[in-house]
Amino acid sequence: MVMKLEKVVPFGRSLDEYVQMFHLTKSDLRKRILGVGDGPASFNAEATKIGVQVTSIDPIYQFSGDEILKRFNEMVDNIIDQVKASPDDWTWSYHTSPENLRWNRVQTINKFISDYEQGKQEKRYQIGELPKLNFQDKEYDLALCSHFLFLYSDHHDYQFHFDGIKEMLRVSQEVRIFPLLTLMLQRSPYLDRITQELQELGYTVSIVKAKYELQKGGNEMLWIR
Ligand SMILES: C[S@@+](CC[C@H](N)C(=O)[O-])C[C@H]1O[C@@H](n2cnc3c(N)ncnc32)[C@H](O)[C@@H]1O
Repeated sequence: MVMKLEKVVPFGRSLDEYVQMFHLTKSDLRKRILGVGDGPASFNAEATKIGVQVTSIDPIYQFSGDEILKRFNEMVDNIIDQVKASPDDWTWSYHTSPENLRWNRVQTINKFISDYEQGKQEKRYQIGELPKLNFQDKEYDLALCSHFLFLYSDHHDYQFHFDGIKEMLRVSQEVRIFPLLTLMLQRSPYLDRITQELQELGYTVSIVKAKYELQKGGNEMLWIR
């Protein structure tokens, strides 16, 4: 798996953002959790501190902490400028302004970086990527995917999404995915067909509203059991 770091936007979210996006309850936080495409989120670092069992997989973990942080520092101002240039695309409820978003993303990557080496040694950060995961059947109770599937519908086709979700369901009892919008703020064109095909296979599929919103309209989570 060869990845070019300059193609990655290493913006990560916090434990609190994951809790809100995925409706994580106290009982969810007692589950064995797999974060798919967690990248530089501080979810794993913060959750581990309070005793949650989390493994994160991402192709970005082939890079060192210094390399990931350097890429973040190169990108952050440019991304915040793009956010400021498209004011109609964002909802300032959780993050209160572009400056506040920047500040929160800096806190997040700092927490991730301080945990990264230890987390790698403890195998909490593992190099891996959809559509194939290197885990046993049902090794996890809950698999989460934040800001990768559906969001990048222009980069990955229907089959990639279907295979990736089936693979998450192979290794985990349940799967939650957020958001359901693409980068163009449209509902992913794959959502209806994926929902129908999974229902035909016997899964219960629901769309759950989240309190969390940053992309305007991006406040829905897909829940598959
Ligand atoms: C926008 S970031 C989201 C990071 C994190 N989930 C969050 O919400 O804070 C998207 C992540 O998907 C990862 N990614 C790219 N291709 C992937 C693949 N095939 N399987 C899993 N993750 C992938 C990227 O490396 C990046 O870290």
